[in-house]
Amino acid sequence: MLRQLMHGRPFVYLDSAATAQKPQIVINTISDFYTTCYATVNRSVYDFASKASAHYNIVRQKVKRFLNAAYVEEIIFTKSTTESLNLVAHCLSKLCLQPGDEVLISEMEHHSNIVPWYMCCREKGAYLKVIPVNESGELIFEEFQKLLSDKTKIVSIVHMSNVLGTVNPIAEIVKEAHAKGAKVVVDGAQSAPHMLIDVQNLGVDFYAFSAHKMYGPTGLGILYGKRSLLEIMPPYQGGGDMVDEVAFDKITYQEPPLKFEAGTPMIAEVMGLGAALDYIEAIDQKLIATWEKDLLEYTTQRLVQIKGLKIIGISQQKGPILSFSIVGFHPLDLATLLGLRGIAIRTGHLCAQPILKRYHLSSLLRISLAFYNTFEEIDLFIHALKEALLLLKPEISY
Ligand SMILES: Cc1ncc(COP(=O)(O)O)c(C=O)c1O
Repeated sequence: MLRQLMHGRPFVYLDSAATAQKPQIVINTISDFYTTCYATVNRSVYDFASKASAHYNIVRQKVKRFLNAAYVEEIIFTKSTTESLNLVAHCLSKLCLQPGDEVLISEMEHHSNIVPWYMCCREKGAYLKVIPVNESGELIFEEFQKLLSDKTKIVSIVHMSNVLGTVNPIAEIVKEAHAKGAKVVVDGAQSAPHMLIDVQNLGVDFYAFSAHKMYGPTGLGILYGKRSLLEIMPPYQGGGDMVDEVAFDKITYQEPPLKFEAGTPMIAEVMGLGAALDYIEAIDQKLIATWEKDLLEYTTQRLVQIKGLKIIGISQQKGPILSFSIVGFHPLDLATLLGLRGIAIRTGHLCAQPILKRYHLSSLLRISLAFYNTFEEIDLFIHALKEALLLLKPEISY
């Protein structure tokens, strides 16, 4: 993918926050599994099935280690961050939301951490409250403290914003929320690929992320949930594998995590995730974070020199995401011209309409970085951006 030419120029992929490219070992692991030892898991006893089950459970252990979870039973495989968040919203609201209760989210949430809560608040007669964001793109902590009350039953918050790049102070949020007896759910879709995550240290009750954004396959999500909560939460979907005994008049369920994994799971995808985790750990997550930070700083310095360009999200605590707009240019025009120059960048509302509205925008441009990006690629991007600007407005010099 990354060695190709696009329209005669080097292909530069700056859209890893949407989905990350895959290391060859991830592709090979999935391909080898289908080619040489494919079978289902948790059901049959023949050789390939036993091996597949063992491998599947080894990856669950790897995820436990990756998150520093206390128990392997706390790791649930879903199909995406979106499904993980829907699962929590659905099951947790059944467990602890009453009419008049409140769910707290922030203004910088991705739609997948807004819509499920909106839906369950509607269903339960509860209220959705929103923590505002300041001009720099940071959560206003005092507003969060003011909004927290005995009525707050759930706080669901993004760890790293997919628009602003802001990294939220999760441990502090957890401390305040737990003091009021509220549960904390974290959307880690953007943070998990870029930082060391320690769910015990953070103290979160739930943590959701997607394999495809961390160099693994599509179609697989992860949900960490505290064992004590998973044990008392009702199941999400019904079907094979999540049940213990089934009769027409009485059904009993498996213990977590299987209670939340109805049906044949994403077997090959889980194998691929295992390879992706090994790959990231072999490079060293701290090295990845340092490289990405340097790239982010360099890109920021180059971008701010462009006339009329405004970066949206300038928090000191920021991951490798840069959203911006340029006065007098439509983001779609620029993204199209960049695409024709081999540069892949995201445009649109980034599935986070409320935070764009906060900045009076309906669309913007976003570049997002990963460990495989280089300083040379940033130079190519800046060069192409200047070309696009000149093409659209030749009268202005860049
Ligand atoms: C912050 C955030 N949350 C949730 C999601 C949803 O992830 P998925 O589409 O993998 O379910 C995304 C995807 O872009 C995201 O950036």
